[in-house]
Amino acid sequence: MSDAQGSVIVRTAGTEDLSIVADIESESFASPWPEEALSAELANPVSRIHLALWKGEPAGFLIAWTLPGEIQLQKIAVRPAFRRRHIARRLLDGLLANAKEGDRILLELRETNSAALALYRSFGFELDGVRRGYYADTGEHALLLGLTIHRKGARP
Ligand SMILES: CC(C)(COP(=O)(O)OP(=O)(O)OC[C@H]1O[C@@H](n2cnc3c(N)ncnc32)[C@H](O)[C@@H]1OP(=O)(O)O)[C@@H](O)C(=O)NCCC(=O)NCCS
Repeated sequence: MSDAQGSVIVRTAGTEDLSIVADIESESFASPWPEEALSAELANPVSRIHLALWKGEPAGFLIAWTLPGEIQLQKIAVRPAFRRRHIARRLLDGLLANAKEGDRILLELRETNSAALALYRSFGFELDGVRRGYYADTGEHALLLGLTIHRKGARP
């Protein structure tokens, strides 16, 4: 198992990255978002796509919406060939490092997604609620997870 330290660079994706983000998306999800939906994220002023490059090669991405007091993590994905190298961890580290004290980070995931659940739990995300039968393709429940940013020494 390799570590992301020194091997990963994270930068903001632009329109020139759309097709590679779409490739990572389709390698990562059974019901991937179409390229138009990813393009809409690039055009959405509250949304940002963070692209992770492993030794220069596009390997994963994270999409997050920044709203007042809240960051909604829309999705995170790492290409299968690049998994378990702490690339997702590095993407989340970057997102949390740029969040403000007191911000609430919110996300939802399929109840059966044990890899993502283990990832989020390792960052301290806690269960906020369950949307029963939320995913129309399988009928799975959605788990709603949340984490509040508290930094040592920060004033309330
Ligand atoms: C979930 C996902 C993003 C993780 O990416 P990754 O780069 O392989 O994850 P990392 O290497 O950063 O893992 C960090 C930690 O998460 C946990 N984790 C990640 N994958 C795991 C797995 N398959 N099984 C158990 N724990 C796992 C571990 O605690 C891991 O730390 P460790 O390797 O030191 O044990 C990746 O599996 C993926 O793209 N899945 C498909 C898309 C998806 O389901 N996205 C989430 C919902 S939006």
